[in-house]
Amino acid sequence: MTWLTDFYPWIKAFHVISVIAWMAGLLYLPRLFVYHCEAPEGSRESETFKTMERRLLRAIMNPAMITTYIFGGLLLATPGVADWGAAWLWCKLALIGGLTVMHHLFALWQKDFLVGHNTRSAGFYRAMNEVPTAMMIGIVVMVIVRPF
Ligand code: HEM
Repeated sequence: MTWLTDFYPWIKAFHVISVIAWMAGLLYLPRLFVYHCEAPEGSRESETFKTMERRLLRAIMNPAMITTYIFGGLLLATPGVADWGAAWLWCKLALIGGLTVMHHLFALWQKDFLVGHNTRSAGFYRAMNEVPTAMMIGIVVMVIVRPF
């Protein structure tokens, strides 16, 4: 596994690049849902939101989540990188589980909008927008500050 050590800075760079792309989608998609709530079903605006939401999820968020997992997993497998006895690492992994749940909920809600079956309010999506934000803040504090 010495190649993992040789490429460690590159793997970490691509990990962070993937994280940025994933987070961009996790923060923007619920914002689109908020605006989509205001557009009547069948209107041109509503059809435009459907296209934007589908493309954001398929072209950016799904690939970025997968590469975040791949590069993050490679970092975990790099000798000497992961301290499995440190609580911050487990806390980070739990928060990543939370982000992954949010990703899949957003994908379900995107499908509801696509077929015109959304029943949730703009206020609901506004509140949901805050959840990945809070999780991202928690993750960055865990990896940088390592408070415990
Ligand atoms: C499957 C998902 C993930 C795994 C397995 C994972 C794992 C890791 C590992 C092992 C490191 C290397 C730590 C070191 O070099 O000491 C790392 C670095 C980092 N991760 Fe993740 N990570 C994941 C997702 C995320 C997410 C979602 C975020 C942010 C929202 C994130 C933010 C960071 C940052 C900022 C660093 C650089 C920290 C530093 O250099 O001090 N990671 N990750």
